[in-house]
Amino acid sequence: MKAAVFREIDKPLVLENLDLDSPKEYEVRVRVAAAGVCRSDLHFMHGVAKIKTPAVLGHEGSAVVEEIGSRVTRVKPGDHVILSFAPHCGQCQSCLSGHANLCDLHMSTAGTLFDGSVRLHAQGEDIYHMGKVACFAEQAIVPETGCIPIDKDFSLEEAALIGCSVTTGVGSAVFNAQIQPGATVAVIGAGGVGLNVIQGARMLSASKIIAVDVNDAALEFSSKFGATDSVNARHSDPVRKIKDITGGKGVDYAFEVFGSTETSTLAYKSTAKGGTTVIVGLAPVGAEAGIDVTELVRLEKKVQGSYYGSAIPAVDMYKILDYTKSGKIDVGGLITNRYSLEQINEAYEELAKGPVGRGIITMIDGNNS
Ligand code: APR
Ligand code: ZN
Repeated sequence: MKAAVFREIDKPLVLENLDLDSPKEYEVRVRVAAAGVCRSDLHFMHGVAKIKTPAVLGHEGSAVVEEIGSRVTRVKPGDHVILSFAPHCGQCQSCLSGHANLCDLHMSTAGTLFDGSVRLHAQGEDIYHMGKVACFAEQAIVPETGCIPIDKDFSLEEAALIGCSVTTGVGSAVFNAQIQPGATVAVIGAGGVGLNVIQGARMLSASKIIAVDVNDAALEFSSKFGATDSVNARHSDPVRKIKDITGGKGVDYAFEVFGSTETSTLAYKSTAKGGTTVIVGLAPVGAEAGIDVTELVRLEKKVQGSYYGSAIPAVDMYKILDYTKSGKIDVGGLITNRYSLEQINEAYEELAKGPVGRGIITMIDGNNS
C-alpha cells in the first residue's frame, strides 16, 4: 500500500509502497478516508518535534474498518471511524484518573503500537507510526481504542478534522478552560486549531473573541467562526491592542495556538487579573517562555497546558460530533483546500506559507457516505 514516508528532516516526504502486517489481537486494519494537514506533522518534518525515523506521519484522520484482530469488540469491518492519536490502554494511572488523552502506555510507546513494535515495513526495514495513527497512507494498523465509530451518514472529511484540530481547539475552550458566559477571550494563532478555539468560545457565549494572527486573510476568515475583533501582531503591539479592546484589563482567557516562546509570552501578558492562559500550540522541544512571576502571584493568573483539548477522546468526541450535527460548530466550513496523497508535499508547502483554514488529503471518493 502507498504511504508518504518521512525519512529526513527538511526533505520532502517520499511516496513509497510499504508492507503492512496483519492486525494483532487488539488492533484494526483500516482504509484511510481523509487526513488533515496539521502543523504538528510539519514540526516533525522540520525536526523541532522528535519522532523515530523513518516514519509515516499523519494523525488527523478518518477511516473505514477493513479487518479486525481476534479480540477486537469495539468495531467491525465496514464501520466508519475517527482515528484518535491518543488511544488509551485503560489501565494506567492517567487513564484511570480521567486523563486518557495522557495515557502512560501510549506515551511510553511513541512511534510504535502498544506492544512496542511496528506494523509498517519497507522491504524489511521498520517504519514508525505517528501517534499510532500514521494516516498519510492508504491503510493503517491502529489500536482498537484509537477507533471512534461514527454514523455512516457523517462526512468522513469532517470526521478527520475531529480527529485533531476540532477536538484540540474546541476541547481547549470547553473541557480545559471551561470558558464562562460573557467572558473575554483572545486566540493567538487563527489557523486550523485556533479557529476551533474561536468557535468553542462562541458556543460558550464569550462576549469578546479577539483573534490575533500575522496573516490578514486568516483574521478575516476567523470572523466566520465567531471572532468579534482582530489584531494583526505584525502591525501593532498585540498586548496593547488587546488591553484597548478590553477596557485596559486584558482577557479572561488567552489561548496560545501557534507554538512558540514569543506567542506563549504574548498570551500570558494579555491575560487579565484572575484570568487563565491556556497553551495549546506545540513549541519546539525544550522551548521556555519567560513570565513575570510576581505578577503571576499578585494578579492570581493561571497558566495551563491543554493536550488534545483535554478531551477523553472515546467519550468527548461524541460531544464534538453533537455540537457539529446541531450546528453549534461548523466543521465543514474549515476545509479550504483538498489534495490527493500524491500532493502531500504541496499541501505542506502551502501550510508553511500560512494558509487560511484547513487543508485535507482525501483518499476515499464520495466522502459523505
Ligand atoms: N502571532 C500570531 N499568530 C501567528 C504567529 C505569530 N507570531 N505566527 C504564525 N501565526 C499564525 C499563522 O499565520 C496561522 O494562521 O498561527 C496560525 C497557525 O495555524 P496553522 O498553521 O493552521 O497551525 P495549526 O495546525 O492550527 O496548529 C497550531 O497547535 O496542535 C498544535 O502543533 C500544532 O503548534 C501547532 C498549533
Ligand atoms: Zn494535529
